[in-house]
Amino acid sequence: MDQSSPAPRISELHDHAGQPVVVRGWVTHVRSSGKVAFAVIRDGTGVCQAVFVKSVVPPEVWERFGQLTTEASVLVTGIPKPEPRAPGGFDLQVSDLVIHGESPTDYPIQPKEHGVDHLLDNRHLWLRSPRQRAIFVIRNEIEQAVHDFYYQRGFLRVDTPLLTAAIGERAGLFETEYFEEGKAYLAQTGQLYGEAAAAAFGKIYTFGPTFRAEKSKTRRHLTEFWMIEPEVAWNDSADNMRLQEDFVAYLVQRVLEKCRPQLAELERDVAKLEKVTVPFVRIDYTDAVATLQSKGSDVKWGDDLGAEDEALLVEDYEKPVFVMNYPKEAKAFYMKENPADPRTVLCDDLLAPEGYGEIIGGSQREDDYEKMIARIKEEGLPLDAYGWYIELRKYGTFVHSGFGLGLERTVAWICGLPHIREAIAFPRMMHRLRP
Ligand code: 4AD
Ligand code: MG
Repeated sequence: MDQSSPAPRISELHDHAGQPVVVRGWVTHVRSSGKVAFAVIRDGTGVCQAVFVKSVVPPEVWERFGQLTTEASVLVTGIPKPEPRAPGGFDLQVSDLVIHGESPTDYPIQPKEHGVDHLLDNRHLWLRSPRQRAIFVIRNEIEQAVHDFYYQRGFLRVDTPLLTAAIGERAGLFETEYFEEGKAYLAQTGQLYGEAAAAAFGKIYTFGPTFRAEKSKTRRHLTEFWMIEPEVAWNDSADNMRLQEDFVAYLVQRVLEKCRPQLAELERDVAKLEKVTVPFVRIDYTDAVATLQSKGSDVKWGDDLGAEDEALLVEDYEKPVFVMNYPKEAKAFYMKENPADPRTVLCDDLLAPEGYGEIIGGSQREDDYEKMIARIKEEGLPLDAYGWYIELRKYGTFVHSGFGLGLERTVAWICGLPHIREAIAFPRMMHRLRP
């Protein structure tokens, strides 16, 4: 084995054309004509084609080629040469081959159609496919874009606890015993802590995992998902929606700018993404219900909108749609009563186009001390667990608003995935805890 040659990643081979290098990676497939043999090598940044010429390589190297199987890990020494017809655009003229880890021929994922349960059972291996890599490059770009967006706007990132006593949303709870303190719950949201941080620091966001013990087996529900939750002092509901549309348009723009090859790998229709520009559409809940009824839905005023209603509503638009000011009973306790119609609250759901449905839930927060206490009681929540939260309305209450963007739903939409489970490396769903 050549110890002196550099070992660039495959994406860096263009800097090493004509010079000996060691490529370290995994075999995706092999073929041989008897005199010349090829192995395509993947290293996570790309693929290159290792070319073995029988009359050139030492006999033991030729023999080792014969032992190569799919997903064996290898160290290949050779000279990279640009070759437009080769997978990845490079041939590697091989002089040496080391098989680092062999891979038995029963590799669970073969080049044929597999059922999704089989793929999910083998998620630890499925991640190696080009399609999965494209998804995770895009997810990574979105995560980086989130931080860039808020950093540029002077927001402070605040990390909020995952073990909590006060709950935020109505969805199911994961609970555990917490020493002498009673029950602890896995956080459904960082929002309540985000509100405290907004009173301290002005503009903040949280970015972390959240948990919901939801017994829903839909294509948009996980039990563990990542959420970005900005919270801004002195923003009202209209300011809040402007921030949301700027944010979502920025994320889509960044992916269009940086991830063209990955969007192509996923066969995403980018023309649809290019239409995602501000301003987004704004529809009042009451008007949305009337429209839905006229389209044949049996939704009634007072109901939250289900997935089917959301899809029906957005089918007339090519951009994301805000549905504003839902009835109080459909939404969480902390939302501010709408002064123009006290049956409703100052809130919005942002629905993604192409039937992807809700990606954001946001609202102006109730800032009146007495009203907040009344709402907590109405919801039957334990007042003592919310003591600190209510104090935010006692010591210098403030107008404030925020929202939560679900990362996996956003990734699924931008990538055009049919199901949210591919948008996270190791999905947690009602019937899936492994791998
Ligand atoms: O609408 P939700 O429940 O709002 C909140 O949690 C607020 N505390 C946010 C805030 O105002 N700070 O959830 C927000 C978003 C949803 O729009 C959706 O994108 C995502 O989180 N989400 C889920 N994603 C995957 N699986 C689930 N079970 C989800 N539940 C919500
Ligand atoms: Mg919601």
